Amino acid sequence: MGDETFLDHVKNPRNVGLLDDANVVIQAGDPECDDKLIFFIKIEDDVVRDIKFLIEGCETTVATSSIVTELVIRQPLDAVLSISDRSISDALDGLPEEKMHCTAMAASAMHTAVHQYRATPKGEASSSTHSFEHYRIVAQVLNQPLAEVYSSDFDL
Ligand code: FES
Repeated sequence: MGDETFLDHVKNPRNVGLLDDANVVIQAGDPECDDKLIFFIKIEDDVVRDIKFLIEGCETTVATSSIVTELVIRQPLDAVLSISDRSISDALDGLPEEKMHCTAMAASAMHTAVHQYRATPKGEASSSTHSFEHYRIVAQVLNQPLAEVYSSDFDL
């Protein structure tokens, strides 16, 4: 495990915060460890223009969330779909097997964002909930400003 890259992302997580003009919001959580996070994503013309996240979680979840934002930012959606738990782990110079569910949650969160965005007609809002073995993901496509959605129901 490459401690240097990992610790850098734990201590200085990239792209933390709210993204006011996000049009896709992904909540992800693992009920067993109680880690939870929200990705705010701006997708336009089939490209991830911007992404930020908020998190309450362990070091590995912080590092995987941080690195995944760097992996997807300014990438076309097809490239986002090719991101895997392994590629996230590799970008952190390797993670132990027992932490691979954290990378799987981050990869699933990005894939779910793309699928939800592509399945939603332009100008419409939508949401869906997905249960995986270790975690749960709620995906929302917004057609109103984030501030209005954020003050309503987030329920992981
Ligand atoms: Fe909580 Fe991996 S330890 S998601």
